[in-house]
Amino acid sequence: MTDIFRKHTPRFAHRALVDSGSRPFYRALSDRGGEALIDGRRVIMAASNDYLGLSTDQRVIAAATTALKRFGSSCSGSPSVNGTLLLHQELERRLAAFLGREAVVVTTTGFQANLAIAALLGMNDAVFTDMSNHASLVDGVRLGFAVHHKYRHSDMAHLESRLSRADPALGKLILTDGMFSVEGDLCRLPEIVALARRHGARVAVDGAHDIGLLGTKGRGVGEYFGLDDGADLITGTFSKCFGSVGGLLAGPQDVIDYLRYNARSVLFSASMPAPAVAAALAALDIVESEPERRDRVFDLTERLHTGLRAQGYRTGSSMTPVIPVHIGDEELGMRVWQGLFDAGVFTNVMTAPVVPRGRALIRVMVQATHTEAHVDAVLDAFASVGRRLGLIPPTAPGDFPPVVLARRKPTPSGS
Ligand SMILES: Cc1ncc(COP(=O)(O)O)c(C=O)c1O
Repeated sequence: MTDIFRKHTPRFAHRALVDSGSRPFYRALSDRGGEALIDGRRVIMAASNDYLGLSTDQRVIAAATTALKRFGSSCSGSPSVNGTLLLHQELERRLAAFLGREAVVVTTTGFQANLAIAALLGMNDAVFTDMSNHASLVDGVRLGFAVHHKYRHSDMAHLESRLSRADPALGKLILTDGMFSVEGDLCRLPEIVALARRHGARVAVDGAHDIGLLGTKGRGVGEYFGLDDGADLITGTFSKCFGSVGGLLAGPQDVIDYLRYNARSVLFSASMPAPAVAAALAALDIVESEPERRDRVFDLTERLHTGLRAQGYRTGSSMTPVIPVHIGDEELGMRVWQGLFDAGVFTNVMTAPVVPRGRALIRVMVQATHTEAHVDAVLDAFASVGRRLGLIPPTAPGDFPPVVLARRKPTPSGS
């Protein structure tokens, strides 16, 4: 007989992790910002998606505190019944104007915003997804009924062949992350939009990481590519650039109205608590009024990314504050993580199944609230750990590929 609870067979990475005594996951932090306190030790926080540093901004905290006192700690109900406050409607209106879309519906998490897409995926539809899409998009597709076609990461020829072979009678949706959360690269939006138009498909982009960060006004990957109207539907989260928690879907009024009444992750979950809504609204003010925060995070990213390449690390095709440092072997990845932690730098180690087996990487992330001294300390830690473990040469190689970043204006090549 099979015991349904017997699911604990450790994956290799987890066994290695337990054996090595490393504890990269579920570590409790006692404060936040560019630094954190872990087990009484102060470390540099290089593992947070708080790119603009707004989760500890005093204006955001004050807005959340006021809302907490006025509206309480919970809405105690879903948006369709008792869970809609004027504050939610204000956030939806403000976001629709910010993103240049007819309407927005907010959800309790970004994950739920992506699950809501399932309501669009009926039996007479086909969905085309990038193989590196976030788990929440993967699950949104699983909950729908559409025929599912996966294309290799950012491989436009593969996407085109998938589109060409699909039944022309089906409704079609291309679904992609805007900025990929592990590799820090961007979707090839101009080509995706061109293919969509040619094949009568709609485009949905998950802007979880790029809304607030990319483009002159912070509107995300569409603005960065000069294609503000490129995506027919945008999803997003407040847990990265907006110092809060919650999610959004933005698009045509009739589609958003349809989702309000048909998406189960919208309908059947208690709505965002007022302090989270107020925090997101205050963060939106800052995203709109302080573009220099985007410049700051890209300045620091340039310093860190260039420094890592100069030391001899391979950092993939990231154009953003998410920098993947490729290691390969999973056990080695754990040792690098531990070495960095011992040196006072908290990073993420990514192993299978998040990345393919044998392609472990350390993900380092930059925040506008970091200082140059933080970045230099991270570089020193990588240099000493990398030399000790034989990952990089003892002296810096003279030649290394230049770092190309998705700063406010796209490069002339559009990359
Ligand atoms: C690309 C992407 N989409 C969606 C989500 C889910 O967002 P949330 O944390 O608001 O549930 C995440 C969070 O990690 C993400 O990285």
